[in-house]
Amino acid sequence: MAENSNNKTEKIISLCKRRGFVYPASEIYGGFANAFDYGPLGSQLKLNLKNEWWKRFVVERDDIVGMDSAIIQNPKVWEASGHIGSFTDPLVECKKCHKRFREDHVQEIKAKFNTDANAETGSRIKSGMTDGEKEMLVCASGGEHDFAEAKNFNLMFKTFIGVTEDSTSTAYLRPETAQGMFINFLNVTQSSRVKIPFGIGQIGKAFRNEITPGNFTFRTREFEQAEIEYFVEPSLDESKKWFTYWLARWKEFFTDFGIRDENLTIRAHDKSELSHYSAGTSDIEYDFPFGMSELAGVAQRTKFDLEQHSKHSGIDQKYFDEVNGKKYIPYVVEPTMGVDRAMLAFLVDAYDESDGKDGREIGEVTLRLHPKLAPIKVAVFPLMKKEGMPELAHDIIADLRQAGIATFYDESGSIGRRYRRQDEIGTPFCLTVDFDSAKDKSVTVRDRDTMKQERIKIAELKKYFVEKNI
Ligand code: GAP
Repeated sequence: MAENSNNKTEKIISLCKRRGFVYPASEIYGGFANAFDYGPLGSQLKLNLKNEWWKRFVVERDDIVGMDSAIIQNPKVWEASGHIGSFTDPLVECKKCHKRFREDHVQEIKAKFNTDANAETGSRIKSGMTDGEKEMLVCASGGEHDFAEAKNFNLMFKTFIGVTEDSTSTAYLRPETAQGMFINFLNVTQSSRVKIPFGIGQIGKAFRNEITPGNFTFRTREFEQAEIEYFVEPSLDESKKWFTYWLARWKEFFTDFGIRDENLTIRAHDKSELSHYSAGTSDIEYDFPFGMSELAGVAQRTKFDLEQHSKHSGIDQKYFDEVNGKKYIPYVVEPTMGVDRAMLAFLVDAYDESDGKDGREIGEVTLRLHPKLAPIKVAVFPLMKKEGMPELAHDIIADLRQAGIATFYDESGSIGRRYRRQDEIGTPFCLTVDFDSAKDKSVTVRDRDTMKQERIKIAELKKYFVEKNI
C-alpha cells in the first residue's frame, strides 16, 4: 500500500510542477526545505477556492462579517492567547548528530513499525518506511540516535521590529489567524451592528516553525488558513449546538466542491490531544495517499480567548445582549481549515487515471476539478490556423472574458492532444471553432467528464456556460 500511495503522491507532485500548479520554492538556489510557490494554475485554483469559501461563509450570510488583520501584532496578543507559554512541541535532540525530532513522532514511528522489539543497532529500518521515518530512527553518524531528555520548543517564528535585536523588540509571525479576530471583537461589534450569534471570518497566512514538515504542501512552515470565530451565548449547550451545526457546514464545503464523502472522516480529539484553549475539537480528516490526516477542524474555544484578552489588555471584552439585557463574554465555536491542505485534497480527489474504458488511453490523466475551482473554465481552439478560425476564436475569447469566464487559447497540435492537455489541468470545457462556425455561427463544446460534444450557437455561449455553474 505504501508503495502505491507514495507513487500517487509523486505523480501529483510531478503534475503540479510540470503544469504550473506548485513549484518547489527557491529552486534555482537548490530549494528551501518544505516551502512551495504556487504557479499560474495553482495560484488561480487557490484563489478560486478562497473566493468560494468567502462567498459562501461571508458574502452570502447575514450573520458573518469578514476581516483581514495584521500578521505581526503586539507580542502581548500571544502572551494572552497562551501561544508564548503553551504553543510548543516536545523535542528530542540527538547528542551525536544534533538533529532534533518531535518526540511523539519518534514514538509513533517506533510503534508503527514495531522497531523496539529486538532492534539491533541500525537494523530498525523496515521496508515501506519513508526517508523521513528512517531519519528519525538511524543517526547520520552511524547506529542509533542518542537522544537527550525532551525539551519544549515554541513553534512561533520570532522576528525583531526596528534596528535593535533584543527582547524589547521581539515580535512574532502569527501562528493562527484567529487572534486577529478576537482582538477586534469590540471593534466589530461597535462598527457592524452584528448581534449574537454571529461570526467573523478571515483568510490569511499563518506561520509555524514545524519540526517535521512534509508530505508536499500538507505540512509547511508558511501556510494559509480560512477561519471563522463564531460567537454564541455563554453556555455549553449553545456551544455544542453550534459546534454540531458548524461541523456539518464545514464537511459540506468539501463535498459540495467535489470531495467524495467516503474519503472524509470526522474524528473527535481525546483529552490528551486538545489544544490549550479547547473544550472539545473534532477534525475532518481526508484519506490522503500518505494516510488519513487532518484537513480541517471545529473547536469549542469557550470564552478562553476573550477572557484572556480582557485580563491582559485591561479592556473589558463583554458584549451587551439587548435581547435579554445581559452583559457577558460570549463562547466561541471555531471552524478552521488549511487552504493549502484543502487544495491538496481537492487535487488528490480529482486526480483520475484512465483505465482505458472511457475512450481515453490507459493512464491518461483527467483532473476532475469542480468547475468553480478549475483554474481555466473554457479552452478555445481553432480547428485550423486558417480561414478566419483563429480570429473568430479570439473574438469568442474576448466575449467570454468580458463575462468573467477564464479562458485559454490553444492552436497547436491535433484536437485530441489539445483535449488531453486541458483534461490534465482540469479544464471543464473545450470549445472548437471549425470550418462551419463562420456560416452557422456555432461551435462545438466538449465536456471534460462526459466527453460529449454539443453544437452551440456563439451568441448563446455565455448563457450556456453560466448554466453549467462554472
Ligand atoms: N485557530 C485554530 C488553529 O489554528 P489548527 O488545527 O492548529 O487550529 C487549523 O490549524 C488548520 O490549519 C488545520 O486544520 C490545518 O488544515 C491547517 N494547518 C495547521 N498547521 C499547518 C501546517 N503546518 N501546514 C499546512 N496547514 C496547516
